[in-house]
Amino acid sequence: MADSADPRAVTVALQKGGVGKTTVAINVAERLHARGHDVLLVDLDQQGNATEGVGLGDHYEADANLGDVWDPDSDVEITDLVRETEWMDVVPSHRDLDEVENQLRTSAYGVTRIRNYVVDPLLGDEYDYIVVDSPPSIGPLSDSALVGTQNVLVPLKMREASISGFQRMVEQQLQPLRDEGGIDVRVLALVPNILEGDGEEKRIIRDIEDSPWADRLPAFARSEMFDGSPGPGLRKRVAFGRAYREGEPLAAYDSDNDQLPRLDELADVVERGGVDA
Ligand SMILES: Nc1ncnc2c1ncn2[C@@H]1O[C@H](COP(=O)(O)OP(=O)(O)OP(=O)(O)O)[C@@H](O)[C@H]1O
Ligand SMILES: [Mg+2]
Repeated sequence: MADSADPRAVTVALQKGGVGKTTVAINVAERLHARGHDVLLVDLDQQGNATEGVGLGDHYEADANLGDVWDPDSDVEITDLVRETEWMDVVPSHRDLDEVENQLRTSAYGVTRIRNYVVDPLLGDEYDYIVVDSPPSIGPLSDSALVGTQNVLVPLKMREASISGFQRMVEQQLQPLRDEGGIDVRVLALVPNILEGDGEEKRIIRDIEDSPWADRLPAFARSEMFDGSPGPGLRKRVAFGRAYREGEPLAAYDSDNDQLPRLDELADVVERGGVDA
């Protein structure tokens, strides 16, 4: 352990494509590393974007995958899948993850697999923080990630489709996990992303502030920030996409980027276990 903060695992999730899950997962993991922690990034999305985004695209077709880790007939262990980068360790995605998800669907304890085979053996021993990037769908892999990490960061575009995606996640995933599974998954923060400064963004941030989720908005994402420049949320910056294509976190690609302090604030939220924690 690098310091006295509690170890913590967190999934980055929303059942909507292209809101910034992978971008937030890679960059929050890198910021946690920059703060002196040992960090593991787990790519649970069959698309493999997080894997590509940290320069490990070659591992997408590796011999072993997570399915082998919990296959009783295989002696592959989670540590066999871990790859190192200069920023963090990574469990890469795999082209067969869809098949792994189908197996989880038909197995009675699929929802506990990430907890039993990834988080419990590694968190607090090998790693201070585990950050899981999840697919843009509600299904056994994302359920298992939420159960395993018990914390979630939710990137949102300030558009109705994102907000309704979040409402669906609460109603179809978080509430059933709590009411039927007895598992409380804490929404550490809502992360408004790719903001450019239009009226819709203003209206939706205000709506969140008038809702029971108001206290999940980090300080950089609140409507007071409309008074200053560059405005609230993670702003739209071409450097995010360019860093991704170079296989690097934002800080490695553009160490002066004005969004780094905001990503740092998110890392701080993960360290503390909530916006107001
Ligand atoms: N703040 C930002 N500014 C500019 N571009 C961004 C920003 N955040 C993300 N992007 C870009 O938007 C696209 C979608 O982001 P990302 O892949 O992180 O979303 P995602 O939610 O993981 O998508 P998927 O649902 O497909 O997994 C990418 O091209 C990414 O580089
Ligand atoms: Mg993604």
